[in-house]
Amino acid sequence: MYRLIRWILFLFYPERIHYILIKVLRGLKRFYITTPILRLIYNYKNPSLEREVFGVKFRNPVGLASGFDKNCDCYHLLSDFGFGFIEVGTLTPQPQEGMNKPRVFLLPKDEAIINKNGSANLGVRHAVYILKRNKCSSPIGANISYCEKTPQNRIIKEFELAFEYLYDFVDYFAINVSTPNSKDCGVVKSTEQLSEILDSLLTIRNMYDEYRPILLKVTPDISNSELDEIIDIALVSGLDGIITSSATFRRENLKTTQKNLSRIGDGALSGKPLFNRNLEIVKYVHAKTRGQLPIIACGGIMTPQEAKQMLDAGCSLIQIFSGFVYKGPSIVKKINKYLVKCHKEQSANQNCKAK
Ligand SMILES: Cc1cc2nc3c(=O)[nH]c(=O)nc-3n(C[C@H](O)[C@H](O)[C@H](O)COP(=O)(O)O)c2cc1C
Repeated sequence: MYRLIRWILFLFYPERIHYILIKVLRGLKRFYITTPILRLIYNYKNPSLEREVFGVKFRNPVGLASGFDKNCDCYHLLSDFGFGFIEVGTLTPQPQEGMNKPRVFLLPKDEAIINKNGSANLGVRHAVYILKRNKCSSPIGANISYCEKTPQNRIIKEFELAFEYLYDFVDYFAINVSTPNSKDCGVVKSTEQLSEILDSLLTIRNMYDEYRPILLKVTPDISNSELDEIIDIALVSGLDGIITSSATFRRENLKTTQKNLSRIGDGALSGKPLFNRNLEIVKYVHAKTRGQLPIIACGGIMTPQEAKQMLDAGCSLIQIFSGFVYKGPSIVKKINKYLVKCHKEQSANQNCKAK
């Protein structure tokens, strides 16, 4: 069924369809019956799926990655699709228009998406306005960053502003130090600067009574030695976790023709092609930190089996974006059902061995 719907949806410009779907969902949410129906169809509960990571309780480990609900338009509705948590944003202190359209492209042959929307968002004030009004049944993370034209010496201030504005309204923070715009634009230049950003946010957090975990979202385009530096910073500063990863600027082993790729040009690529590198990163970080640093695996997870592989590699939670677009909303339930099935099989095997 979703294949047919997808075929029709994919005929139109993705950002337009995304906008229309959000409007439709928000319209439907006004009817009392929408939430129970969606929950009946898409939710799947089981105690073995529940977990507590960095002090936050999750009903299942499958989250929605940032970029899907940038402006907090429908996080409360998306949680009805069975997600264990929703990450909103990337949000910046001021609204940003981002790049000119078209800036989102589907690559169906690769089950991938290229985006160059450059953290387009309506800013933290707009997000808080909505977050205050709509409660959500799942934890919400806020992915925050700085505005693109910010001079280097103002970057920390921008993170602080976004952090303080959202602090009372979300359950965790994801710090995004690279904008998904172009590979050179707006990137935090050094690990020293990264440390300074994290230190300042950790200091601000100490002033609040309530604890909000702070995670760092990393790019898959870094070498293992660069990853080592980030791990060191994370462990020394007392970061609560790492999200691996955002989209890639690489274009290796794609089925999409070179002609089409050249037509699209630069941009960050998400989806299936990310899976292998991300699996490697999860294993690497897990081994290096001896499991001390919680990991959220994100990137290229398109099937329940791939979700399980990531969890087995050492992550505590997973996030999907392209999988939701290509496989449809039922992917969340499918992953959760598969995890429960594997858990039951594992428990049965252990019982057999014990006997
Ligand atoms: C259209 C689009 C917009 C995105 N916007 C953001 C964003 O604003 N901030 C961010 O940290 N990641 C953003 N991402 C990256 C996703 O959060 C995720 O890291 C990436 O897509 C890999 O996951 P996937 O392979 O499941 O899609 C975006 C991805 C897409 C496809």
